[in-house]
Amino acid sequence: MAGLPQHIAIIMDGNGRWAELRGIPRTEGHRRGSERAKQIIEAARELGIKNLTLYAFSVENWQRPLDEVFTLMELLKNYLNAERDNMKRQGIRFMTIGNRDMLPGDILTLIKETEDATKDGKAMNLILCLSYGGRDEIIRAVRKLLKEKIDPESLNEDNFKNYLDTDGIPDPDLLIRTSGERRLSNFLIYQSAYAELYFTETLWPDFTKEEFLEAIQDYQKRQRRFGRVLESLRCIKS
Ligand code: IPE
Ligand code: IPE
Ligand code: MG
Repeated sequence: MAGLPQHIAIIMDGNGRWAELRGIPRTEGHRRGSERAKQIIEAARELGIKNLTLYAFSVENWQRPLDEVFTLMELLKNYLNAERDNMKRQGIRFMTIGNRDMLPGDILTLIKETEDATKDGKAMNLILCLSYGGRDEIIRAVRKLLKEKIDPESLNEDNFKNYLDTDGIPDPDLLIRTSGERRLSNFLIYQSAYAELYFTETLWPDFTKEEFLEAIQDYQKRQRRFGRVLESLRCIKS
């Protein structure tokens, strides 16, 4: 049986539909979604999860209407300004992954300030995916490798990971997606090769701490084999 996941990654999906169902603007769904994110971050820290990754904005999301993108960026700024001291107190180390070149300057400054203010946090890493795309991440990694003129024969799965944005962070054990969609949408496509997947119909603004716990309990019932058979797993453990 699996223990407590070391790393949980969440595709926080369904804010727009949550709002549309209530006849209110999608942006209001995003506001409620960011409140929900705050609760789930707290819950993860209380449970002793060491790494929590949240998919907040994909590279593809730049194609959304300008006012929606603007609201999402404003929500992020408000979140960082309001939560920076709290994260520091709680021992949460904040970091972001994604294509920084595409982010506006004021957001970048705020990110750097928050990363710096929380860099000594030991309780949990909070990894926010902003302007993130798994393919974009892999291509940026390959570019770095080529620039460094790495000997092709020395490249392996372990050292390739050092070139990804998630350098130093273990692969996700549990990947949750809300809102009923059953796809990865370009999220951690390299790192999730052996993640356990959990899909729920619940829209992100309705995803409670209780359901988060249910997802973890569901994960704990699973048997992770990584391609082996049961017998050889027992040998490794003993
Ligand atoms: C997830 O909610 C948040 C972002 C992608 C930024 P959506 O905005 O995708 O909500 P739906 O999928 O349209 O309901
Ligand atoms: C994925 O959700 C991105 C985030 C949750 C930030 P999308 O709503 O953008 O994904 P698709 O378009 O349904 O695949
Ligand atoms: Mg969506």
